Amino acid sequence: MAKDWSPTSWRTHPIKQQPRWPDEADLDRALKQIAGYPPLVFAGEARSLQAGLAQVAAGNAFLLQAGDCAESFEDFSADNIREKLRVILQMAVVLTYSMGVPVMKVGRLAGQFAKPRSADFETVGDAEIPSFRGHIVNAEGPTAAARVPTPDRLVQAYHQSAATLNLVRAFTKGGFAALDRVHAWNQEFVASSPAGQRYEQLAQEIDRALHFMRATGMDTESNANLRQVDVWTSHEALLLSYEEALTRQDSTTGHWYDCSAHMLWIGERTRDLDGAHVEFLRGVGNPIGCKVGPSMTGEQVIDLCETLNPARIPGRLTLITRMGVDAIEDGLRPLLHAVKDSGHPVVWACDPMHGNTYTSENGRKTRHLESVIGEIEGFVRAHHAEGTWPGGIHIELTGENVTECVGGADDVQDADLDSRYETVCDPRLNGRQSLELAFRTAELIRTTQSS
Ligand code: PEP
Ligand code: CO
Repeated sequence: MAKDWSPTSWRTHPIKQQPRWPDEADLDRALKQIAGYPPLVFAGEARSLQAGLAQVAAGNAFLLQAGDCAESFEDFSADNIREKLRVILQMAVVLTYSMGVPVMKVGRLAGQFAKPRSADFETVGDAEIPSFRGHIVNAEGPTAAARVPTPDRLVQAYHQSAATLNLVRAFTKGGFAALDRVHAWNQEFVASSPAGQRYEQLAQEIDRALHFMRATGMDTESNANLRQVDVWTSHEALLLSYEEALTRQDSTTGHWYDCSAHMLWIGERTRDLDGAHVEFLRGVGNPIGCKVGPSMTGEQVIDLCETLNPARIPGRLTLITRMGVDAIEDGLRPLLHAVKDSGHPVVWACDPMHGNTYTSENGRKTRHLESVIGEIEGFVRAHHAEGTWPGGIHIELTGENVTECVGGADDVQDADLDSRYETVCDPRLNGRQSLELAFRTAELIRTTQSS
């Protein structure tokens, strides 16, 4: 267990990115309510995920972490969850087949609500109003009233997380995730788009592999290994009082686990070594992640590894790089080198979203699919050069047919962004762009591995 740590020890460290709750007593009431509720996940599940991530660290598996930038209280329905899950499963099948290793599927869902912001306030007309910090804190409407931090939202976030997780568990164990079905959806994607035809060969290979399995006598429809999958939950551990309220002591090991999700990560803006976020996450037993931006030095990364994973437990720590397409290759190589030399067993994952955001001419925040894929290319090249394993990707996506990112098979243009721009925070890849990304990443890793 971490030395000199308790679920409240973060409170004596400098903290960033917290809302200014107008009524402390009301906040305490909401937090006490949550602290009395059941955990959302169990310690044993977090340990299973960590064991899977240890395989990723060793180069024997791949991590696909994906979901919303920010989950929404309004856009919350069975359809929405199902479509998101569907695209994650489709991507995972493509990646599993091409890389020949298991894919650990981790959703940015069932708790991904709180958002860090570059400024505490925003100017609207003549008024200065608090920034939107995610539905767990306030509402996004551009008025002072909408932006008041409201503790009841913490309680609502807990309930929405519970309902989402319940549906995810049902979908992933009840036949929805069956390999045959997921493959049929991929075939539909390939058949229905001209650009999808580029991936026809890979889809046909998967088809032949399934036929082969059936020919050998395997019942691909009823085999539990092919019908059921694990989809784990994750979010940025940003609102530490909420995370503390869901942190519980595991009765079998005596260790503390943050039972709000299986995996938690620290964002780019809150990763100070002696800050509250690092202090909190260093003490929980869950697998954890930390974003690594372009300003990070090798020394800083090693310090983070030493603080967050002093016992060097494989699978415990995932470093999620987000440097931008132009910086990734040269920026990442020295870090890979330093971590390799130090012997720390980390998972390296590529977030190709957050370093590639720009504002389009019509004022929408967007990302181009080619820059997103370009950053994955640079990430894979850097690993190839350093002899390390490009362990995974971290993607903001939705299953819906939104127009938030430009490019892709349907060639979404700047001028199309207004037609279905629905995100409450950063622009997400739509279902088809996400699949295209999976096929392209699969091709890329395959050709790099064989070169
Ligand atoms: C995010 O993942 O949504 C995010 C805010 O990322 P970062 O901390 O890397 O900016
Ligand atoms: Co985001």
